[in-house]
Amino acid sequence: MMGERVHWSGRMAFILAASGSAIGLGNLWKFPYIAGTNGGGAFVLVYLLCIAAVGVPIFMAELFIGSQSQKNAVEAFSELDRPRSPWRVIGWLGLVSAVLILSFYSVVGGWVLDFEWLALSGQLTSSSEEQVQAFLGGLFASPSRILFWHSVFMLLVVGIAWGGVRKGLERWNNILMPTLVALLVVLLVYATRLDGFSESISFLFSFDFSALSRAGLLEAVGHSFFTLSLGMGAIITYGSYLQKQSKIGRIALSVAFLDTLIALIAGIIIFSIVFSFGAEPGQGPTLMFQTLPLLFLQMPGAQFVAIAFFLLVAVAALTSAVSLLEVIVAYWEDRGHSRKRSVLLWGGVIYLMGILAAFSFNLLADFKLFGKTYFDWADLLTSSYFLPIGGLLIAIFFGWKLLPAGLSIVFGEASRWNSGLLLWTTRIIAPLAVLLVLLWKVFGGLFSA
Ligand code: TRP
Repeated sequence: MMGERVHWSGRMAFILAASGSAIGLGNLWKFPYIAGTNGGGAFVLVYLLCIAAVGVPIFMAELFIGSQSQKNAVEAFSELDRPRSPWRVIGWLGLVSAVLILSFYSVVGGWVLDFEWLALSGQLTSSSEEQVQAFLGGLFASPSRILFWHSVFMLLVVGIAWGGVRKGLERWNNILMPTLVALLVVLLVYATRLDGFSESISFLFSFDFSALSRAGLLEAVGHSFFTLSLGMGAIITYGSYLQKQSKIGRIALSVAFLDTLIALIAGIIIFSIVFSFGAEPGQGPTLMFQTLPLLFLQMPGAQFVAIAFFLLVAVAALTSAVSLLEVIVAYWEDRGHSRKRSVLLWGGVIYLMGILAAFSFNLLADFKLFGKTYFDWADLLTSSYFLPIGGLLIAIFFGWKLLPAGLSIVFGEASRWNSGLLLWTTRIIAPLAVLLVLLWKVFGGLFSA
C-alpha cells in the first residue's frame, strides 16, 4: 500500500458517508416498486425482519472487517486471516457485483437526471396527468437520450470519486444528505392530506401472506442487503477509512435506522399518490417516475418542488454510486495504481457495460436470455444471489473466526446481551436465514416465481 491510509474526519462524517452509500435509489425507487409488485404488507414485514436480524449484524461485521484490517474488500480477508486466504473470494465476488450493480444503477440515475431536466425546463409541471405518466416511456423509447443521461451520471460519479475520500466523498455527503431528509418530510406532510393516504398505510403495513411468492421472499432478503449496501464489500471499504479503534455497533444501528426510515417514508408517499390517482401499485420500475410528479402538480410551487426533489434523488443516487465505484478503486489503488488512473479505468469499464443496460429498454429489448434483458440480469443476479451469498460468507467469517475476540471493539464495553445477540445472529441466524431462503428458491425453480 502506498503511504498512510486516509481517514474520515470523524464519527459524524462517517455516519453521513455510510448513510450516503446506503440511502439511494434502493430506498426511493426500488423499495416502493418491489413492495408494490409483491403486494405490500407481507413483503414489508419480511424486509423489516431481515434488516433487523440479518442486515444490522452483517453491517457490523463489514465495518469490523474494514476498520480492523484497514484494507480493501479483497485484502481485508488476508489481513485478518492469512496471506492468500480463500476467504478473499468474498472480495472477488464483491468486485464483480460492484461492476454489475453500478452498470444498471447509473442508467436509473440517468432517468433521474432526465426528469430533473424536465423539471427545470418546466415541462414536468405544465403537463396533464396523462402526459406526466408518459414521460418515462418517451425516455425509454429514445436510445440516444437514455445513453446521454447515463453518460452524464457516470461522469459525475467519476468526478466525485476523483477527489478522493475527504474532498470528494465526505464533502458532498455532509451537505446533501440532510437536505434530502428535510425535503422528504415536507412531501410526507403533503401526502398525509391526500385521499389515498390511509389506503397507503394499510397497503404497506397490513399483512397478506398469500400475496408473497417465493421470488418475493428472496427479493425481500436480497433487498435488505442492497439497501444497506451490504454483501459486496462497500461497507468494508468505507470501514477501512475509519480509525481502527472506532466503536462500530452504534454506527451500524444509526445507519440502518435512517435507511429504513427513508425507505418507509418514500413508500408511504408514493402509495398515497398511487391510491389517490388510481395508479397501478404493481407497475414495477416505472412507479416512482409516474407517480411523484402527480403529487407535485397538486402542490403550490410545483416546479420548485419537482426541481428540488429530483435533484436530491440524483444526489442520493450519486453518493451511493460513488461507494460502489470506491470498492473497485480502493482495491486497484492498493495494488499500486494511482487514484486517478483507477477511477478512470474502472469508471470506463462500468460505463461501457452500462450501455447494455441503457439499451435494454429499446435497441436491445429483444436481446433476452431466459426472458430477461441485461438490465434485469444485472439486477437479479446481484440483488437476489451475489449479495445474499456474499453476506452469508461475511457473517460466517466474522461470527466464527473473528468473534468473540473482537466483541469489545464492536461495542466499546460490551454488555452480555448485545454481545450474545451479535454472536449468534452472525454465527447462526443470518447465515441460516439466507441459506434457507436461497435453497427454498432454488428447489422451487431458480429464476421463476
Ligand atoms: N444501497 C444503495 C441504495 O439503496 C445502493 C448501493 C450502494 C449498494 N452501494 C452498494 C448496493 C453496495 C449493494 C452494494 O441505493
